[in-house]
Amino acid sequence: MSTALARARPHGASFESELSAADFSRVAALVSDHTGIKLPAAKRVMVEGRLRRRASLCGFATVSDYCSHLFDSGGLDQEFQHLVDVVTTNKTDFFREPGHFTYLEEVIVPTLMGKAAVRGSSGRTIKLWSAASSNGAEAYTTAMVMADLARNHGGLRYAILGTDISSAMIDQARLAIYPQAMLDPVSDERRKRYVMVEQGKGASGRARIVPELRRQCNFQAMNLMDDVYPYDHDVDVILMRNALIYFEADVQDAVVRRLWSHLRPGGHLMLGHSESMIGTRAGLPQVSNAVFRKGGA
Ligand SMILES: C[S@@+](CC[C@H](N)C(=O)[O-])C[C@H]1O[C@@H](n2cnc3c(N)ncnc32)[C@H](O)[C@@H]1O
Repeated sequence: MSTALARARPHGASFESELSAADFSRVAALVSDHTGIKLPAAKRVMVEGRLRRRASLCGFATVSDYCSHLFDSGGLDQEFQHLVDVVTTNKTDFFREPGHFTYLEEVIVPTLMGKAAVRGSSGRTIKLWSAASSNGAEAYTTAMVMADLARNHGGLRYAILGTDISSAMIDQARLAIYPQAMLDPVSDERRKRYVMVEQGKGASGRARIVPELRRQCNFQAMNLMDDVYPYDHDVDVILMRNALIYFEADVQDAVVRRLWSHLRPGGHLMLGHSESMIGTRAGLPQVSNAVFRKGGA
């Protein structure tokens, strides 16, 4: 922690609950330029709350002091990633919007299995990408579905990439440790197979995804605002769910265009259920609820 960050809050002092309009504008502009996330005035109270927690952690007495540190004392370089981490909304769940996983299990993979290219030990690897993966729940849900399918279809190979702009979320995803309550949407059978629970006295109430699934998932930090995504262009399924909703329409369109170019012919793009209009606006062929399929295969 830098000396500036170490400035201690007087013991017992309460925070001034003030994020000035000017500081909010500076933060909002920075966040929007870098991440695409729009922060309209209505989000000021939410942003203030999140900045307050960060300010407190860094030892600043007020949000205003923290903002001065960022913008007037050169603290931004060191704090930038933390700022991104605090302003991103990382809400996620296992089996969130479960229809997509049913579609993967019952339609997409069986269709792929009908093609000689993915069958048997010499078959190619099915590639899946959780493009705003948060803490990894979406990627590990996908892994559970794929692992079940692989159990029933010997030789089925798959690999899952998880990317997110928040390095804190990428760290959590790699660790794959969750509060047990978060695993509630996972069926008992799958929990038995794919989740390790600490038992006995002193157990932490947390659970970890088994190594077999962790090995199939590779998490990397990536900004969807980048012009080029350094990944393959023959991906079978891209999940881009519940992140575009935070972007301006032109950013949504550009991200969808770039992701679409990473799909192989016949590949699928899944958007959040409340985001399907972004796909239809782009003229993508919709084959199920918020699922779009690239032609040509
Ligand atoms: C609400 S979570 C959605 C997680 C998951 N896809 C789901 O539907 O449960 C949105 C995620 O998008 C990420 N995100 C926001 N802006 C991003 C950007 N420019 N590039 C990459 N990830 C971004 C956030 O860090 C956050 O983890």
